[in-house]
Amino acid sequence: MGIEQQYTVKGGDFSHAGSASSHVRKLLKQLEIAPEKIRRIVIALYEAEMNIVAHAISGIVRISLENDAITMVLEDQGPGIPDIEQAMKEGFSTASRKVREMGFGAGMGLANMKRNADLLEITSTVGVGTTVRMTNYF
Ligand SMILES: Nc1ncnc2c1ncn2[C@@H]1O[C@H](COP(=O)(O)OP(=O)(O)O)[C@@H](O)[C@H]1O
Ligand SMILES: [Mg+2]
Repeated sequence: MGIEQQYTVKGGDFSHAGSASSHVRKLLKQLEIAPEKIRRIVIALYEAEMNIVAHAISGIVRISLENDAITMVLEDQGPGIPDIEQAMKEGFSTASRKVREMGFGAGMGLANMKRNADLLEITSTVGVGTTVRMTNYF
């Protein structure tokens, strides 16, 4: 296939949040990927995208589609994650009151990404930003 896509995500922009994952859902449907595969990819990507909106300043989502896999790389400028192991725990959240009032900040995103991505790799530098790399196989 060899399809490449790129989306920008703005921190705090809840009105456009989720657009990368909904575009990818449509694309995968057109390519007739199995619905169960699409579901896991879209959940993982949505959570990662929402983490940029909820926690970072801005970010770029890069999607690359091959015959056998999709790779999703989300690179943001933001506060970074000081303790990734702690952040991965279900229920852990540093979401602001404002973010919680919008219905986000349950602390389940990273755990959902772990569950739904075939491969998940997170690197982060405090005060600089976070990069999430996920791969799912078809
Ligand atoms: N891109 C990110 N930049 C900075 N911190 C993040 C990012 N993604 C996750 N985190 C940190 O990890 C915590 C847990 O994330 P998550 O499981 O998605 O829960 P939630 O987003 O509901 O807080 C967040 O509260 C935040 O402290
Ligand atoms: Mg989250």
